[in-house]
Amino acid sequence: MSDIYEDPGVLAEYLLFHYGTAEEILPPDVAWPEGMLRALDFAVRTTFHFSKHHTGRGLDLGCAVGRSTYEMSSSCSHVIGIDFSQAFIDAANTLREGKTVDYVRRDEGHLATGLTAKLPEGLDLTKVSFLQGDAMALPGDIGAFDRVHAANLICRLTDPVLLLERIPALVNPGGELVLATPCTWLEGFTAPEKWPSGDTLAWLQGHLGGAFDLVKRADEPFLIRETARKFQWTRSMLTVWRRR
Ligand SMILES: C[S@@+](CC[C@H](N)C(=O)[O-])C[C@H]1O[C@@H](n2cnc3c(N)ncnc32)[C@H](O)[C@@H]1O
Repeated sequence: MSDIYEDPGVLAEYLLFHYGTAEEILPPDVAWPEGMLRALDFAVRTTFHFSKHHTGRGLDLGCAVGRSTYEMSSSCSHVIGIDFSQAFIDAANTLREGKTVDYVRRDEGHLATGLTAKLPEGLDLTKVSFLQGDAMALPGDIGAFDRVHAANLICRLTDPVLLLERIPALVNPGGELVLATPCTWLEGFTAPEKWPSGDTLAWLQGHLGGAFDLVKRADEPFLIRETARKFQWTRSMLTVWRRR
C-alpha cells in the first residue's frame, strides 16, 4: 500500500484542504477563477448529501485528517473516522483533544507560511473517535451504521472490491451510503486488473445494486493546493445509496 499519506508535506496539504480558510487557500490578492472558489470546502460539502435528520452511528472511511467525520457528528449520535495513515489519524486526534495543529503551507521553493488547523466552534468532541485501520479489512466487530461516508477513497485502494463487498453489512436497513470518487485510477495505488473494466458508475451499480438503491448522483469539485500556483482541481463523482 502506498505510504504517500504519511508524508509531512502531504499531511500539510490535507490540513489546508480540510481546515484552511478560503483566504489561506486562495489569497484574495489574486482574481481566482470562480470555479476554484466553488471547489473549496469539499470535505464539508460531501456530508451535505446525507438526509438532514438526526440519526445513530456514522462511519467515515478514508477520513484523512477528519473534517467530514466532524461534520457528520452534528447529526449522528457518534461517528468513527478510519484512515490507513497514522499521521492523518494523529492529527485528527490532536484536534479531538481540543488542541490545534501547526503546519507549513508551501508557497514556492523555500518560501512557506506557517498556519494552524483548528476545528470549527460548537462541536461535541465526545461524539467522534478515530482509528488507524484498513478499509479493506475492517474489524469484524465494528457493527453496522446509519450513515457511511467514503470520499475519494475507492480509487486509492489496492483491492476496492473487498470494501464494496463489505459495505452492505456496514449499513443498517434504511441507512445511507455516500461514496465520492474522482475515478482517478492509478497504477501506483490500484493494479489495472483491479480497476473497473468500463465505467466506474456502472461498476459501482454492479457491486452495490443488489443491496442498495441509488438515490442520487452529483458532481462535487475539490481543490487541493500544492503551492501558490499549483493546484489539483478535480471533479469527484458522488453517489448516494439507500440500504434496502
Ligand atoms: C484521496 S484521500 C481522501 C481523504 C478524504 N476522504 C478527503 O476526501 O479529503 C484518500 C485517503 O484514503 C486513505 N486510505 C488509503 N488506503 C486506505 C485503506 N486501505 N484504508 C483506509 N484508508 C485508506 C488515505 O490515507 C487518505 O487519507
